[in-house]
Parts: sequence; C-alpha cells; structure tokens
Amino acid sequence: MGLEANDLSMKIGARTLFQGVSLQCPKGNSLAIVGESGVGKTTLLNILALILPTHSGTISFDGVEAQAWNERKIRKFWKEKVSFILQDAGLDDSETVAYNITLKHGLPWRHTQQEAYAAAQQVGLADRLESQIVELSGGEQRRVAIARAIYKQADYLFADEPTASLDDTNRQLVQDLLLEQVAKGATVIIATHDLTLAAACDQTYTLTKI
Ligand SMILES: Nc1ncnc2c1ncn2[C@@H]1O[C@H](COP(=O)(O)OP(=O)(O)OP(=O)(O)O)[C@@H](O)[C@H]1O
Ligand SMILES: [Mg+2]
Repeated sequence: MGLEANDLSMKIGARTLFQGVSLQCPKGNSLAIVGESGVGKTTLLNILALILPTHSGTISFDGVEAQAWNERKIRKFWKEKVSFILQDAGLDDSETVAYNITLKHGLPWRHTQQEAYAAAQQVGLADRLESQIVELSGGEQRRVAIARAIYKQADYLFADEPTASLDDTNRQLVQDLLLEQVAKGATVIIATHDLTLAAACDQTYTLTKI
C-alpha cells in the first residue's frame, strides 16, 4: 500500500510554507520531492516521516492513518519500519561505523556481523567498521547512513539530500543503492535537488513557493 498524504500544510509563524500537499508513494516505489532551496523539502520530508507535525491533513502508512498516534506508537513505527538518511547523516559521532550500522554495541552477534560487513562493503567502507564516525569524511558518513538503511531493510526509507556533496562515482553509488532498496520492496521518499536522482525515481513532487 505504501504512503499516502492528503492536504498537508505547514505554517511557520505567520508564514505559510506550503499547503494542500497531497501525494502518494506506493510500496516498492520511489518519490523525489524537488524544488528550490528554502521551499520546504526538508520540512515536508520530516512531516511525512512523522518527525514534525502537520498543520492539516492526513498521512497514512499501508492504509493506516498516523494522525492519532502518540509518541510511543511513532517511535515503535520508526524502530520497526523506518530508516532515515538525514541531511547531517544523523549518526552517533561517539560510536563506531559498525555500531551506527547495526545500532548495537560491540559485535557479539555473529549472524548480524556478516550482514553489517555486507552492508559496509556495498558502500565501500568494509575496512572502516571499527572506525569512529568522527574519523570519517562527510561523504563517508553519508555512506554509513546508507549502509544502515541497507542493513535494516526498512519498509520506509526517508532520505534528505542523500547525494549532496558527493563525487560522481559516489553519487551514482548512492543512487543505485537507494533504487536497489526500492526494487526490494521499500517505499523510498527522497528530498533532493539532484535532478539526475529525481529523474531516476518513479515519481517527482515539485514544491513551489506560495
Ligand atoms: N523550525 C523552524 N523555524 C523557523 N523557520 C524554519 C524552521 N524550519 C524550517 N524553517 C524555514 O522554512 C523554510 C524551508 O526550510 P526547509 O529546510 O524545509 O527547505 P528546503 O527546501 O529543504 O531547503 P534546502 O534545499 O536548502 O535544503 C526555510 O525558509 C527555513 O528557514
Ligand atoms: Mg533541505
């Protein structure tokens, strides 16, 4: 079923950032949210991911409306079904790459260690599993966030500018990995100004200034 949003709006003080936003992203599909800088892409992505509340309208996941969910229910949904790739990578800087991919301390879990290695290998960081996040470049940190999403095999993946400030090779790698998650059945929503990535998605939603 995937994600469906109807009539979303966002006001910041007296300013209406956007209103009447309705969109759908069926399961196993990708949707790119595009538009000029400052138009509200990150804000809309955060509303769709239930990180921010909407001022109007409804959001449903697999046909279930999320409006009435309390914080506990939202956290459970995130834990079980969602992976985030945030603009600042959203990693725990004081932990290792391995910890951030699996969100587990140490690596006692032999069966998951292999999966963590496989995910790190897909983003070219297999030899950095025990590195601290602070020792990594910005682009490497972004790839850790993507390895985490691969490892989790979440139903919903929300990515904010996942290809920003990457070289061509890594930009293509990230695009391929995200679309691979879509092919595996994930519902992937991406806020981006990367028009190549947007064109590779199943759908595009363009936010425009009011
Ligand atoms: N918590 C907040 N308080 C005040 N203003 C905010 C807040 N969050 C966002 N804004 C404003 O809302 C507008 C949209 O911000 P947003 O980050 O969603 O844009 P964006 O389209 O993602 O931009 P970019 O392409 O630069 O990432 C901006 O003008 C921003 O300053
Ligand atoms: Mg943004």
